[in-house]
Amino acid sequence: MAPDLLPFSRPESHATFQPHRWRSVLHSNGARKIRIFSTGFILTGLVYVAFFSAYGPLLRPLGLADPLLVDPKFAPSRPSPPFPPDVLTLEQIRDIVAPTRGFFSRDYSLGLGWNNVRYIYETALLQAELLNRTLVLPSFIYTRACEYDITVCANYATMVNKGDAIGSDEWREMPIEKQMGFRIPISVIVNITHLRSRQPVITASEYLRLHGQDPESESSSGVWPRQSYHTHPNVFETNKTKTPSLFVIENHWYAPTGIVRVDYIPEEMKKRGGLERHHGPDKYDGSAEHWPPLEPTELSTYLTETANGIGFPLDWYTAKYVLKNSHLIGDVNLDYDDVVDKVLNAHGWEVLYTFPAVVEMDLAKIVVGDLRQVAPRSSIRGFKDDYHDVDADVVVLAGETHINTKPGAMRFTEELGRHRYVGTVMHSLIQQQKVFDLAEVLSSRMRQRTGGRMWMGAHMRRGDFVRMGWGSTITPEDHIRQVEDRLGAGRAVLADLQSDIEGAKPDPEQAMLPPPQAGDPFFVATDERDPDALRKIAAAGAVFMSDLLTMEDRREFGWPLMITDLMALVEQQLLVRSNFFYGHGMSSFSGAIVNMRAGRGVDPRTMHLD
Ligand SMILES: *[C@@H]1O[C@H](CO)[C@@H](O)[C@H](O)[C@H]1NC(C)=O
Ligand SMILES: *[C@@H]1O[C@H](CO)[C@@H](O)[C@H](O)[C@H]1NC(C)=O
Ligand SMILES: *[C@@H]1O[C@H](CO)[C@@H](O)[C@H](O)[C@H]1NC(C)=O
Repeated sequence: MAPDLLPFSRPESHATFQPHRWRSVLHSNGARKIRIFSTGFILTGLVYVAFFSAYGPLLRPLGLADPLLVDPKFAPSRPSPPFPPDVLTLEQIRDIVAPTRGFFSRDYSLGLGWNNVRYIYETALLQAELLNRTLVLPSFIYTRACEYDITVCANYATMVNKGDAIGSDEWREMPIEKQMGFRIPISVIVNITHLRSRQPVITASEYLRLHGQDPESESSSGVWPRQSYHTHPNVFETNKTKTPSLFVIENHWYAPTGIVRVDYIPEEMKKRGGLERHHGPDKYDGSAEHWPPLEPTELSTYLTETANGIGFPLDWYTAKYVLKNSHLIGDVNLDYDDVVDKVLNAHGWEVLYTFPAVVEMDLAKIVVGDLRQVAPRSSIRGFKDDYHDVDADVVVLAGETHINTKPGAMRFTEELGRHRYVGTVMHSLIQQQKVFDLAEVLSSRMRQRTGGRMWMGAHMRRGDFVRMGWGSTITPEDHIRQVEDRLGAGRAVLADLQSDIEGAKPDPEQAMLPPPQAGDPFFVATDERDPDALRKIAAAGAVFMSDLLTMEDRREFGWPLMITDLMALVEQQLLVRSNFFYGHGMSSFSGAIVNMRAGRGVDPRTMHLD
């Protein structure tokens, strides 16, 4: 395999990653504007996404009947040991924590599926880094479905009732297979050795061991137990009555209405606004610093009114338009961005950096593209500024912050901060090497099926998205027609790119392959379960995972392929390697693929989301 094809072998500052090129991928599809009416609904939606979009029986090996597989005679009698063995000594755990100010953790929503949990972890990595603390992650996640009868997977992974584990009645009325989930060690899902090489991270079970507690007493819901995790001293602590202290960042302190949470407040901004520190604990309201009141100017009032009308924070281009048309500023040339920024600053507004939304929402948490926004300085609160100096051994951010928030759950005050976060998302939580290796093999099989030409792939999320009205098409016929239509456009893009000398060619080997032809088979990852619907999708030329995997692949890769969500990690990596990718703008499964393609320096024109 050429080193070029290896995942993440490129330096992070790879020259082909150019945010401005990503706009075409990210433009929202005007024909499909989806409104979601309440936060509650989104939360329910995410939970649905998490647990009910099982890829189902589609990927069952042909010719093997279920009864054979569930016959206890044929199933291993004991669960195989967790792999890879990744047990740290107490001294190793201590040494990870030592160069930091202590621990940072969250109330993790473990009821969600991996792609949603993943961006909660990415956000937590950012927050822990800002506070110079060791991040504590759950030592396991729950997966939602087994490719076979659940009793088969239960021989390989601890089966739990999700409702009991999470403390929710969400699934009580469902058939039993939908109520059960599998507890999978985090080291099976991500390369934890690699993660630790980037940032100090330990698992909750390691935290418990470090404090002389039973690792089996780890929180099953992901919520940080405020009492039980604080009853024992650190095993290296000489004062045996000194239990770890806790500081909770209350959820309503994080980003209350009217407040814009940012990573940190740079020195110049502090000076501009005369930021003051609160004195004394009586003044403490969740924010350590405050901006002295500022007399509003006519222009700042005008900007505020605009924001009240169309949403907050304002996009930078909107703000510039307002400035140009306000006739409130004298003779300045607004063609220069830094002039616009200076005018805004002078009137109490600041420029912030974030990522553009996909399909007008921020569900896919895609970290490509650049979006500048502006907010009144008085609304800005720095996460580092507020909580870095907290002395407690453990700092916990209560509740969830990912609903309706930008990637990172905060905005960045400097371009460099945003750039660093892109690196975290693209390079911190990566899969085990064998996932990449298998995806590489499957990719070459797709190439064989297309006669050596480039191949294309799509994510067809059906089940839950169709039920919730999140999909634009209902019938499988319409849906596959839409996929064919988008891939048809993709074919033209790939043909064009080959003759485009200026275009980014991060992967010369791939670029030398002939472009796809009409009628070439294409790969589809889907959660569709209905055999009739699957036949219709296959008839259009779709190739599924079960068509590509051989018995040897399954033997070599091992039991994780039996668990739908873990096999989906391979499907994701396969789609990362497609020459053209079409996915859902509202899906975190598709969003992660776009982020990983960007991490490989793939040309943004070779993907489409809507
Ligand atoms: C992080 O905290 C540790 C322990 O307090 C300190 O020694 C170190 O200098 C801090 N690192 C940074 C980058 O502030
Ligand atoms: C031991 O820790 C406790 C709790 O933090 C504290 O009150 C006590 O003063 C400490 N004892 C010594 C000898 O430092
Ligand atoms: C984890 O990543 C490191 C590189 O950071 C690599 O050397 C190692 O082989 C990976 N482990 C697995 C199990 O993939």
